[in-house]
Amino acid sequence: MTKRIAVFASGEGSNFEAIAAACQSGRIRAQVVLVVCDRPTAHVVERAARHGIETFAFDPKSYASKADYEREIVARLDAAQVDLVCLAGYMRLLSRVMLDSYEGRIINIHPSLLPAFKGANAIEQAFEYGVKIYGVTIHYVDASMDGGRIISQQAVPYEGNDIAELEAMIHALEHELYINTINKLIAESRI
Ligand code: GAR
Repeated sequence: MTKRIAVFASGEGSNFEAIAAACQSGRIRAQVVLVVCDRPTAHVVERAARHGIETFAFDPKSYASKADYEREIVARLDAAQVDLVCLAGYMRLLSRVMLDSYEGRIINIHPSLLPAFKGANAIEQAFEYGVKIYGVTIHYVDASMDGGRIISQQAVPYEGNDIAELEAMIHALEHELYINTINKLIAESRI
């Protein structure tokens, strides 16, 4: 059966785009059935509309608590019969509400070789640090920031001093690694 994926994002959505395109072209044997976005004005919302994918875009401030909006998210994931949740630039920690229902089926991509450089602006953090080997990590999600058991990692050496060039390299690597990792999880029946 074709696996059903939800992508969570807060901003640009280039990883969403890569996953959605790979599903549409048959490179991933799955379907993106839902996009969840905590910033209704984010570019990813527009991208999802262009792909005709159902989107739940919400403003966290209009809910009394994180548990409240996560209950709504879980209801939508259940209704869409989602097999795998891919966090792709979703810049929020998950609470027990999401984890109790979907832990083990939620993965995240982070633009560093974890456990180094957790949090926002990881590429910039690493660049400022003078790192020579950058990379991307995909890991299962737990309640911690960019924590959880690592599924896949890829390194990329860079000794230049052009951060825009570095970011472009890392984003391209992210898109490939996300597609390959989802395929690996499907091939190994891990979702
Ligand atoms: C990606 O680089 C992703 O790894 C990062 O946000 C960016 C989202 O880009 N995520 C984190 O830093 C998570 N801690 P995108 O919206 O173009 O996919």
